Amino acid sequence: MKPPRAVFACQSCGSQSPKWLGRCPDCGAWNSFIEEQPAAAPVVLPRSGGSALGGRGAQLYAEVDTVIAERLSSGISEFDRVLGGGIVPGSLVLLGGEPGIGKSTLLLQAAAHFAAHIGPVLYCSGEESEHQIKSRGERLGLGRTPLYLLAETCVERLLDEVERLKPALVIVDSIQTVFSLKIQSAPGSVSQVRQAATDLLFMAKGRNVPTILAGHVTKDGSLAGPKVLEHVVDTVLYFEGEQHHAHRVVRAVKNRFGAVSELGVFEMTGRGLEAVPNPSQLFLAERPAQAPGSVVLCAIEGSRPILVEVQALVSAASYGNARRTANGLDPSRLALLLAVLDKRVGLSLSTDDVFANVAGGLTVEEPAADLAVLVAVASSLRNRPVPPDVVVFGEVGLAGEVRATSQAALRVREAAQLGFTRCVVPDGNISAPDVPAGMTIVGVRTVADALEALL
Ligand code: TYD
Ligand code: MG
Repeated sequence: MKPPRAVFACQSCGSQSPKWLGRCPDCGAWNSFIEEQPAAAPVVLPRSGGSALGGRGAQLYAEVDTVIAERLSSGISEFDRVLGGGIVPGSLVLLGGEPGIGKSTLLLQAAAHFAAHIGPVLYCSGEESEHQIKSRGERLGLGRTPLYLLAETCVERLLDEVERLKPALVIVDSIQTVFSLKIQSAPGSVSQVRQAATDLLFMAKGRNVPTILAGHVTKDGSLAGPKVLEHVVDTVLYFEGEQHHAHRVVRAVKNRFGAVSELGVFEMTGRGLEAVPNPSQLFLAERPAQAPGSVVLCAIEGSRPILVEVQALVSAASYGNARRTANGLDPSRLALLLAVLDKRVGLSLSTDDVFANVAGGLTVEEPAADLAVLVAVASSLRNRPVPPDVVVFGEVGLAGEVRATSQAALRVREAAQLGFTRCVVPDGNISAPDVPAGMTIVGVRTVADALEALL
């Protein structure tokens, strides 16, 4: 038999080639090809028999039992929320994030609670020794629970421990450090990550054990390792936020058992991550009073309304080239909105620098933020503050019209709860019975109307 030939695989997208290439023809990454040995042994069927999902052959739709997946609580309310209400038995969850953002801390806290209330937990770390994990646990104040620590990077040995301990939850920190004996390339390479994730998937589905994987992200913010990792798992969660801020946001970008773009908000304290039950309060805590260029937006993230402060600063450009900088907003959307302001309202900014920012490090991508961005820019340009009791939302079209957004009633209710008394919203977006007592609704049809009402 001929020995298996090496292949070169792109470490960013998993594309393969028989020879080394400087640039990946599929994803365009430079210098990403690494030599990998293909699996030498024929692929062995997983222990559970036929397939990971049961392998009983085809069944009639009508005869398949309806199973309402019970959810297991991780004991951390915000973590349960992003998971769609708790951990689903047998699910495979990937938690991605930059180094030092708090992945290991969150997973250890969840593991300890799970061990105390639901059943034994196996926490397998390829990055830290048992002593390091223990000293972190001391800091978090974890008590005596059936929590097993395993410093191991070989996935086969990890699976043996699962066989022996029969845990109710398995945590692998991180998927890039584990390797399978079936593949010869180094841990963290595409084929290793794929193989290890697939082995863990078979374990999770075959034994109905929920499994959480921590994953590294690359410099540009995507998950290190192949895209296929995101396809294999049931749920992908990302840690967002800046290390300089104490709060962290976990966002669901894929969830087979719940809503996507659901947010969980945490604060990093001396005793680990603590859930923040009312994020609007946190994001508005440092809002300056009566400052031009600042307005409060009610955004919807997943199923939850969040009030954030949108800030803009307009200042004269030097050397005649105007700069546009957007933080937490889409830069091309900002350019489009400035063009609308120029053409439809007559406020020209061609000789000014414009900086727009969502305070607190949150990223807002929904178009309902448009009106707030324009109001903030106009407020800074005219140097007149927006009244402090106002919340704004609405999508802006190219003709300068303000368009209706989804879930207007929910947004207005959140604003009323935090003591705001006026909402500037798209005209006709909210009907009278949905308006809470003490709240005044100002319906606007165009951007010019909104500016007139506010400035
Ligand atoms: P860690 O959870 O190890 O992050 P990751 O696994 O994502 O790399 O890092 C947590 C960071 O948070 C670290 O810089 C120290 C800090 N920290 C606290 O502020 N309070 C705590 O109670 C703990 C455990 C960590
Ligand atoms: Mg870690």
